[in-house]
Amino acid sequence: MNAPVISPEMIAEPVAFPLAPVVITICTTCRKAEAAPDFRPGAVLADTLEALPASGIMIRRTQCLSVCTRACTAALSGPGRYTFLFGDLDPERDGPALVEMAQAMAGQPFGFVPWKARPEALRSRIIARVPPLEWSPGDGSAPA
Ligand code: FES
Repeated sequence: MNAPVISPEMIAEPVAFPLAPVVITICTTCRKAEAAPDFRPGAVLADTLEALPASGIMIRRTQCLSVCTRACTAALSGPGRYTFLFGDLDPERDGPALVEMAQAMAGQPFGFVPWKARPEALRSRIIARVPPLEWSPGDGSAPA
């Protein structure tokens, strides 16, 4: 049997990456069924986010996050942090909520933001939350 990838020492203390940004990865190839064929809501959202003043956050464009039926989509992640994937975003409305969520992640151990602490606009749009490799308690619980 191979040695475990996650050792007990790795979960004893939160891993701090104070200088590493929270990355907002946005799909820029999604389409909305009701919109014009060449309209890409993710591109609009990325433009909006890049225009917002926010430190410690990096905007990254990508082609497809594999949740194409939930356009527009974005994932928030970072070294040692949870990854949160959101869909059904409104590119005109939800940019500030994504920045608020990224800033909340930056201030939490492992980047974990409980549901009630998330921006209200994002709560019903969560698709997935994936723990970082550094967080693996035996019972699979979230950080307290
Ligand atoms: S094209 Fe956007 S998630 Fe697939």
